[in-house]
Amino acid sequence: MKTVESFLSYKEDSKKITIVTCYDFWSAQIIDNSNVDAVLIGDSTAMVMHGYETTINADIDMMILHTAAVSKGIKQKFIISDLPFLSHLKGRNQLVESVDKIFKAGANAIKIEGAENTLNDIEYLVKSGIPVMGHLGMTPQSVHQFGGFKLQGNNENKANHIIEDAKKLQDAGCFSIVLEMIPSELSKIITQNLNIPTIGIGAGKYTSGQVLVLQDLLGVNKDFNPKFLRKYLDGYKLIKDALNDYDKDVKMKNFPSTEESY
Ligand code: KIV
Repeated sequence: MKTVESFLSYKEDSKKITIVTCYDFWSAQIIDNSNVDAVLIGDSTAMVMHGYETTINADIDMMILHTAAVSKGIKQKFIISDLPFLSHLKGRNQLVESVDKIFKAGANAIKIEGAENTLNDIEYLVKSGIPVMGHLGMTPQSVHQFGGFKLQGNNENKANHIIEDAKKLQDAGCFSIVLEMIPSELSKIITQNLNIPTIGIGAGKYTSGQVLVLQDLLGVNKDFNPKFLRKYLDGYKLIKDALNDYDKDVKMKNFPSTEESY
């Protein structure tokens, strides 16, 4: 998948879309040769790669650094980068500057959270030729307003609000919307109501596609086990075992061998 049109045609053909997050060059090279459709340089990099508690610590320099690294390893996939915390509230000039830097680092599209203060900017960017992905539900940049990483849209009022926001984001020109941690019946309604694809994380099976954090699906954090996550690898154990095998081989004088020496 290389273009915004591919997202729309996947939706038209009822073909599911897969996205994974990616923050670095080496995993980008593996993803590029996989069947996964697109990559997201999520601001979750602040948590996954830099150890912060929330995504609020991702700033524009962090996003540029990771986007540049990923784009060197991605030749065949669509690249979406997150616009970090408060970027759209720093004035139009600074917003344009940030988007410019992210695109020059290699992004093909940006993702912006929420639909309260963002609609005008999204419309402006789309009209200027910038593909924008929306993000509703448990938008992590608003974690302190939500009082934690919690299910959203779980009563009628809140659900209706998200349904309306999704329509507004489509009208503003978004080519796709991430729906995070909302009930599956709600994401079903939203997906049916829209012409653009929805991408779910913790939003059930009715979305047009799914996104997962690479390190989560590889199971490298043994203590991160939300209900929505399926781990496709016990990465924590595999990596730890490999490190212990290396340590053992060196200490037992089994590595390097003659064949591995000059
Ligand atoms: O930052 C991120 O990784 C995200 C995805 C979880 C959708 O926004």
